[in-house]
Amino acid sequence: MMKVLANMPEFQSIVSMQDLDVAEVEQLISRAEDFKAGAQLKLTEPVYVSNLFFENSTRTHTSFEMAERKLGLTVINFDPQASSMSKGETLHDTALSLDAVGVNLLVVRHPQNDYYNELLGHADLSLGLINAGDGSGEHPSQSLLDMMTIAEQFGDFTGLRVAIIGDLTHSRVARSNMEILQRLGAELFFSGPKAWYSQEFAQYGTYLPIDDLVEKTDVMMLLRVQHERHPGEQAFDTQSYFERYGLTKERASRLPEQAIIMHPGPVNRNVELASDLVEGKQSRFVTQMQNGVYMRMAMLESVLRGNHLGGLV
Ligand code: CP
Repeated sequence: MMKVLANMPEFQSIVSMQDLDVAEVEQLISRAEDFKAGAQLKLTEPVYVSNLFFENSTRTHTSFEMAERKLGLTVINFDPQASSMSKGETLHDTALSLDAVGVNLLVVRHPQNDYYNELLGHADLSLGLINAGDGSGEHPSQSLLDMMTIAEQFGDFTGLRVAIIGDLTHSRVARSNMEILQRLGAELFFSGPKAWYSQEFAQYGTYLPIDDLVEKTDVMMLLRVQHERHPGEQAFDTQSYFERYGLTKERASRLPEQAIIMHPGPVNRNVELASDLVEGKQSRFVTQMQNGVYMRMAMLESVLRGNHLGGLV
């Protein structure tokens, strides 16, 4: 039996966490938990979705496709390398073509910040859109699955001490998470190389060396070094990074008992954190990936409803 939610949010597109207010974030978490508990959606009209990934992905791409298939959407494969974008077709004209052949919804990952401005608000396009990551801009589906994972552990965000550590300036996950965590009432801290910290983050939280953070952290979010966004980078010394900024076993031993360790993936073992900690009892990496499917189901449902797709009641 399909469960109809009185307060299910409806969106034509989701491209930024700033699109969502706190109540909508809580509703999406609640709906994702319903899906995790086995809730199903019954489409009465076909819906066609294409996942356009112009950057590599394991988690986001497969979990969106899993979520789409679990909801009963028809996935129309799209390979950027084999598409006519290699002949110079723009993203906008690619979307126009997919719209014309009957695709209803796009999930897009793109290396360019704000690429979605090419697709939103154009009268010639009638597609729903979910941003699966834009350059160093935003990663709303990762952020929402992270909020779901934290909510499962702690229930409430008020006063929760969250540390985001690593390549802050190049991380779309960090940008999305700091914005929503502040609105949810968490207390934020940052750490990592000072060169990858920007004063723009001071409005959200406090920068501290990792050794001054570990004992007062409820949630430690580690970030991958985004080498692909470091133009002209010289040789990167992984051992030195690990020793100065990483979560070593010694540092992890000083975390409070209730603390959890999160990472959006992909993880570089013995760079962001000691390899053994990946499988440790405080790690939530696998839970994050599992929750990603259910959160993406909730996001997709909200965009189906916002675009009157699937004949949902
Ligand atoms: N967290 C995340 O976006 O991982 P992928 O790049 O593998 O999708």
